[in-house]
Amino acid sequence: MSKALDGVRILDFTHVQSGPTCTQLLAWFGADVIKVERAGEGDITRGQLRDIPDVDSLYFTMLNHNKRSVTIDAKKPKGKEVLEALVRKCDVLVENFAPGALDRMGFTWERIQELNPHMIVASIKGFGPGPYQDCKVYENVAQCAGGSASTTGFDDGPPMVTGAQIGDSGTGLHLALGIVTALYQRHRTGRGQRVTAAMQDGVLNLCRVKLRDQQRLDRTHVMEEYPQYPNGVFGEAVPRAGNASGGGQPGWILKCKGWETDPNAYIYFITQAPVWKAICEVIGRPEWLTDPRYATPKARLPHLQDIFADIEKWTMTKTKFEAMDILNQHDIPCGPILSMKELAAEPSLRKTGTIVEVDHPKRGKYLTVGNPIKLSDSPTEVVRSPLLGEHTDEVMAELGYGTEQVAALRAEGAI
Ligand code: COA
Repeated sequence: MSKALDGVRILDFTHVQSGPTCTQLLAWFGADVIKVERAGEGDITRGQLRDIPDVDSLYFTMLNHNKRSVTIDAKKPKGKEVLEALVRKCDVLVENFAPGALDRMGFTWERIQELNPHMIVASIKGFGPGPYQDCKVYENVAQCAGGSASTTGFDDGPPMVTGAQIGDSGTGLHLALGIVTALYQRHRTGRGQRVTAAMQDGVLNLCRVKLRDQQRLDRTHVMEEYPQYPNGVFGEAVPRAGNASGGGQPGWILKCKGWETDPNAYIYFITQAPVWKAICEVIGRPEWLTDPRYATPKARLPHLQDIFADIEKWTMTKTKFEAMDILNQHDIPCGPILSMKELAAEPSLRKTGTIVEVDHPKRGKYLTVGNPIKLSDSPTEVVRSPLLGEHTDEVMAELGYGTEQVAALRAEGAI
């Protein structure tokens, strides 16, 4: 079966996490992704957080499926020539070097346009134009600078980063959308263009509801669904909301049976207004239906913490899965806190290809997260990540280099 991005060639000049997540998605959709790395070490993540000596780390393998790897030294004149040949041949160049690095290699936007006016040049940087535009940025810096850390955690604790890699993988997703949009526009105009996604912007986009809350706070000085209401104090900025829901239906994380020994024996419970009657009946508090303090969503707001404490008395008598079964029979929205161990073993995720077992020639079998975006006409087959330089000869041949030329370039360290 053909793939959505069949025929699209990507010069993948990305490293670490943010850029590689973007190009991995494009590869899953069928693009030919040629990853350019330095001979010898390659992408720094190949050697980071290794669990098996001298074998590409899971950090690398899980971010670089379905790609080809070529080694090129972009700072050597002959290496630059090979890169230029790739620029001429490819549709998109994706990079996430530190600000200015691509220009310093000699690949300015103007030079790339001279080589290939159809080329789309897609970049991730930590910040957009402004005071921090020259800064190097990693995941947690973006979470802090994009508004996530100041709004995550509990009110009496410090700002907190989240395990979801919203700065890296989140910005990779944003960039991938920018690239396919630019490819779509190129069908009409024939022109390439620059696509940029700043990690601060990507995180802020994902924290959109918190900027909503900032403006509500500025106007009304109070937010009734936050745990600070009614007894806490609101300052000038959106506070950390603990586990409160970010939407209009109050929610909280509640203990379940076994919480004393299992750190994940919890459930997220949402007191959705349309099923309030069912909630009262299921947890054995039918009197709440007529109690004026609980009868309407508005009346309940000042009592939310008490309400959740009472609901928790019920959830603590059930495992998270028992609670899930019972609550779903009544359409009460809830979600078990699932550990990575539980997710890795979940049969339904294996069945949909969201969790995939991959075989690697050096590390053997490992689990990875497959493509979370499912296209009915372009199914994803997850292929192991390439070894460093595994496809150099193949790609050089496609670029028209003969075996002797390749050997000479290798001897002088250009590839
Ligand atoms: N051949 C020759 N040189 C190469 C090369 C190649 N194939 N690939 C990379 N290099 C060079 C670069 O040109 C650069 O050289 P320069 O500093 O002389 O210009 C050098 O390697 C280092 O690149 P850099 O991007 O600065 O890497 P770093 O390890 O110092 O910094 C980041 C890493 C992630 C902090 C930085 O790349 C960055 O801020 N990127 C943008 C934001 C981002 O994506 N962050 C998230 C990463 S998950």
